[in-house]
Parts: sequence; C-alpha cells; structure tokens
Amino acid sequence: MVGSIAIDAEYLKEIEKARRDLRSLISSRSCAPIMLRLAWHDAGTYDAKTRTGGPDGSIRHEQEYAHNANNGLKIAIDLCEGVKAKHPRITYADLYQLAGVVAVEVTGGPAIDFAPGRKDSSESPEEGRLPDAAQGVSHLRDIFYRMGLSDKDIVALSGGHTLGRAHPERSGYEGPWTKEPLKFDNSYFVELLKGESEGLLKLPTDKALLEDPMFRYYVELYAKDEDAFFTDYAASHKKLSELGFNPPSLGFKDAVKNTALLAQSAVGVAVAAAVVIFSYFYEVHRKTK
Ligand code: HEM
Repeated sequence: MVGSIAIDAEYLKEIEKARRDLRSLISSRSCAPIMLRLAWHDAGTYDAKTRTGGPDGSIRHEQEYAHNANNGLKIAIDLCEGVKAKHPRITYADLYQLAGVVAVEVTGGPAIDFAPGRKDSSESPEEGRLPDAAQGVSHLRDIFYRMGLSDKDIVALSGGHTLGRAHPERSGYEGPWTKEPLKFDNSYFVELLKGESEGLLKLPTDKALLEDPMFRYYVELYAKDEDAFFTDYAASHKKLSELGFNPPSLGFKDAVKNTALLAQSAVGVAVAAAVVIFSYFYEVHRKTK
C-alpha cells in the first residue's frame, strides 16, 4: 500500500509552486518524455494482491533505478532534485507523479487531476514488475491486471508513446513512435494502424495492441477520435498515479478554512442572485403600476 501523509493548506500551496517550477523546467529542458516515463515506472510496479510497489518514490534509490527496465531514468531523477530542493516538504512520490501530469499538460495533452499526499518509501520491489517490450498480449494483461488496471487502461496508457523515443544504449530499441515526439496527441494510434513506416518505432508490445480484438477496438477508436483518447487517457493516468494510494483529506483546521472560503463565495453568489431577483421584481412592479 502507498502510505499517505497529512496535508494542509501550506502543502497545497507548495504543490502549486512546484507545478509552476516543473512547467518551466520541462519546457526549457524539453524533458517531458523522460519525466512521463519516470512517473510511470515509479507507479507501474504496483501489485494489487500484496499491495506493494506503486507511486511511492522508491525509484529514487539506486537499488531500483538500476533495474534494467529503468535504464536512463537517473537523468529524470536528477532533474527533479532541483525542484525538490526548492520545495523540500513535497515527497518524492508526489513530485514524480506531479512531473508526469505536467509533462502531459505542457506538451498539449489533457489536464489530469492530481491528488497530493503520497508517502515516500525506501523499500524497492523486486526486479521484473514492469513490462518487457519483447513480449505480447498475454504478458501485457498479466502485468497490467496485476496492478488492477483494465484492457482500456492498457491501450489508453500505451498512448503515452506519443511522446519521446527509444535509445539504443538504454533499451536496445531505437527511434520515436511519432513524427512529433514532443507533442501529446493521438498520432501514436494513427501511426500504429498505418503499419511499418520509415524511421518510426513499433515495439512488439505496441504491435500486440492490433492483434487482440478488445485492444484493437480502442486503438481504432483513439485513432479516429482524439477527444475520446484524451478523456480516457486522463482517467487511466490518474488511476496509474494513485495505485494503492488513498488521497488524504485536509486536516480539520484547513478544511474549516476551505469551507469558510467556499461559504464566503456561496454567500457572494446568493447575494448577487438576490439582487438580480429583487431588481427584476422591482422593474415588473414599476411597469405594472
Ligand atoms: C505497455 C507496456 C510498455 C512497454 C513494454 C514500454 C517500453 C518502453 C521502452 C522499451 C521504451 C524506450 C526506453 C528508452 O530506450 O529510452 C519506452 C519509452 C517510453 N515510454 Fe514506455 N512502455 C510501456 C508503457 C508505457 C506507458 C504506460 C507509458 C506512460 C503512460 C510509457 C511512456 C514512455 C515514454 C514517454 C517513453 C519515452 C522516454 C524518452 O523519450 O526518454 N510507456 N517505453
């Protein structure tokens, strides 16, 4: 299980500041793809049965980033350190997931709801929980069902390959999946349906999405309807980022503060509505005189 920390209004403010810092870091360093991969690899180790792994920041430890599947991710971990130094209260677990959400947002993808409060863990899961790109349909289901995710989640999340590229020295594969690897759109699915195309990559696990009828249904849907892809992607990404995590509610004092603010604005809206209604009746009354 991913533990949670107590959050208050100050923590929420820090999250908003870190979000702004991540926006400028990710845009200026063009590192959206590797930040998204970092968030996914921290979360994607979740095992719903044993409630171990998941988005708990454990990937920051060498024992985990040294796993074969995580080759290259030390770059993203180091990039996040600057933001962590400015906002030390924010946990690594929250920071990596926030970086994933911001990476999608700044490259033109859908807004993804972010709930803070993940606790850091220093226990890394054993190697081998992330998918192996050389395998196919049943392997994808084994891995994603273990996390508690569905067929629709598998296809929507695979659309994350609309960003970035494979690097031979990291994975043994080479090249981007789409012609604009810094733009989050539905072109991953469009290219997948087109078949082999010069200079673009298709992993065996990408091609597997065409073989299974259930997977293929979503590939075809997302290729022709980008809005459907964005809606489903945002929901699946949120699920991935919260595997094993129950977002905490605000502490009592902060909840009161928030409720007071809401009440103030509700009173404001009620007063405005009353003024409109009153002036309407006043007008009607005057006209009928
Ligand atoms: C379905 C199973 C998946 C497999 C087998 C897989 C495999 C891979 C491989 C082999 C690479 C190349 C790494 C490198 O050489 O730098 C890669 C890159 C990447 N993956 Fe996946 N992946 C999967 C799912 C996902 C998911 C669910 C996401 C996000 C939602 C994702 C996001 C990315 C991104 C953004 C990159 C590019 C990184 C960069 O440009 O540095 N992948 N993936």
